[in-house]
Amino acid sequence: MSLLAMFKSAGLTGFGYGSTAEQVTEGYSLTGQTILVTGCNSGIGQEACRVLAMRGALVLGTARTKEKAAAVCSTFTGKAIGYACELSNPLSVRGCVAAVKADGHRLDAIIGNAGIMMLPKLEKSHGYELQFFTNHIGHFMLVTGLLEQLKERGRVVMLSSEGHRQAPIGGISFENLSGEGGYQPLTAYGQSKMANLLFAKELQRRFVGTQKTAYAVHPGVVATKLARNLGPVLSRVLAATGPLFLKSVGEGAATEVFAAVNVKALPLAGSYLADSNVAKPRADAEDPALAARLWAESEKIVQALDNEAGSRQA
Ligand SMILES: NC(=O)c1ccc[n+]([C@@H]2O[C@H](COP(=O)([O-])OP(=O)(O)OC[C@H]3O[C@@H](n4cnc5c(N)ncnc54)[C@H](OP(=O)(O)O)[C@@H]3O)[C@@H](O)[C@H]2O)c1
Repeated sequence: MSLLAMFKSAGLTGFGYGSTAEQVTEGYSLTGQTILVTGCNSGIGQEACRVLAMRGALVLGTARTKEKAAAVCSTFTGKAIGYACELSNPLSVRGCVAAVKADGHRLDAIIGNAGIMMLPKLEKSHGYELQFFTNHIGHFMLVTGLLEQLKERGRVVMLSSEGHRQAPIGGISFENLSGEGGYQPLTAYGQSKMANLLFAKELQRRFVGTQKTAYAVHPGVVATKLARNLGPVLSRVLAATGPLFLKSVGEGAATEVFAAVNVKALPLAGSYLADSNVAKPRADAEDPALAARLWAESEKIVQALDNEAGSRQA
């Protein structure tokens, strides 16, 4: 347990800062459920997979390569299958969608957990800033591609972050999605996490009239490999002080697992969650027009990527 957890009380759901993924699933049998988690090979995604498999779910864990995913999945107690899904490579994402469909999986939940943070210099994929492309566009392709596999009461959980507050004014710089018009590592990360949040909000609006639900999650601050770009000094400080001030991976994985399977998450559908309770995001994250615009732009980007891939094959 992290030191801070001792000073924080539980919220309305009965869970809080110090709750772990094991605790938010205590007493649950997830036998018969199939849950896809991106980024199964590290950090809180790995912990989420471990706990979901331990509770009986069939976990479909994705990583950049099938080998990497399969190696981690083989360490879990329970059933887990590894799939390749390199989120910055549309062909790989499409391949993952096709493989999950071909294997006939119907999904109880999709957890869009994988992510990169604060790349020191501008990097791009297909002309788009890499954090926006990996964290948002890759997941947009994956999740929308798998929507028809989602069961009647299926849930989609997107990992956002309190970092979404660092997004540019207006939320998303639609005129600078390449990053060429100016690049700041924290702003770009914030924008990608704002996009994850807006995507979950728009998905929930599109789920109205169905029993499907969508959530955005801030997992807390957890010492994982995510901090690799913060530089050696800060990374060492974080590693040394982590046990005192940061969440453990068990605590960090709790909110995404809570959103994916706990019955108490159902009345909170469409919310931004932190510490397994409702949290208030930045005001523009709740702007339906902004979310709708991001969805439309993302569709256009994905369509262009599909056309690009099609013309390369022709
Ligand atoms: N840790 C925190 O304090 C914190 C705070 C707020 C939000 N979050 C969010 O929580 C999520 C999980 O982060 P974490 O802390 O567990 O970080 P992590 O240990 O670095 O794990 C990130 C995962 O994402 C995968 N990934 C990165 N780029 C990918 C790509 N292009 N294609 C496929 N997979 C890719 C990584 O695979 P590789 O190992 O192969 O790179 C890894 O499995 C992220 O979305 C992050 O933004 C974390």
